[in-house]
Amino acid sequence: MAEVVIVDDEEAAGALVADAIVALIRRKPDAVLGLATGSTPLASYRALASRIADERIDVRGVRGFALDEYVGLPAGHPESYRSVITREVVEPLGLTPELVRVPNGDPASIRTAGADYEASLLAAGGVDLQILGIGRTGHIGFNEPGSSLASLTRVKTLTEHTREDNARFFNSPDDVPMHCITQGIGTILRARHLVLLAFGEAKARAVAAAVEGPVSASQPGSAIQLHPHTTVIVDDAAASGLANLDYYRHAWAHKPDWQRI
Ligand code: F6R
Repeated sequence: MAEVVIVDDEEAAGALVADAIVALIRRKPDAVLGLATGSTPLASYRALASRIADERIDVRGVRGFALDEYVGLPAGHPESYRSVITREVVEPLGLTPELVRVPNGDPASIRTAGADYEASLLAAGGVDLQILGIGRTGHIGFNEPGSSLASLTRVKTLTEHTREDNARFFNSPDDVPMHCITQGIGTILRARHLVLLAFGEAKARAVAAAVEGPVSASQPGSAIQLHPHTTVIVDDAAASGLANLDYYRHAWAHKPDWQRI
């Protein structure tokens, strides 16, 4: 079962995520981070950037792989995930840009982009710690309901729900691309530690289905139950649909000091 940690807010979650990543980088200076985009991980990236600056941690060897990218946005579009990862992660953390990869959403090479990304992930030795958000549809990465639990990086069609949710980043809902290239669920499950973050009431159903529902391609987030080391960090609102809430709080309160998330 995933470890479920209920925190007061995104800043408290960010402190836990930053702790885990700082410990990882100290242990492995060329650690491979799996990077989610969207709003959910932003406080964690800010917390990590502060820790790196305050403690003068050398991150020049740290590598990164984004989860996904839109297909067909022009190079340099501010909402391409390449731009978002540069703006929200690479620059504030001071990572080496050449060591941070994002799937290639250029239509000209899209047929081979998934296999290329898989090859790069394997060549890097896989992801050490994968940060995940979750969509209202239950997607992780952009693996919408129905995605194979064994899927690898490939092109997917976004649901209209997801396009509506992401319209806030674009001038008009019609500007949200129809297609994306995303790590598959099988790809995500190869990471050594999954850290799934969710905040707010709108995520409560997806979180409950992911943590406590049956494992099913209809709820892609439920694939986390197949992973031996998953940490789910949620606020009260996102945790509100969980049946075993008391137990999660009890287990966290009695967690051995030596164990990290
Ligand atoms: C982003 C990603 C998505 C988001 C999810 C939640 O790289 O893969 O799964 O994590 O759509 O988005 P936010 O955080 O904006 O609610």
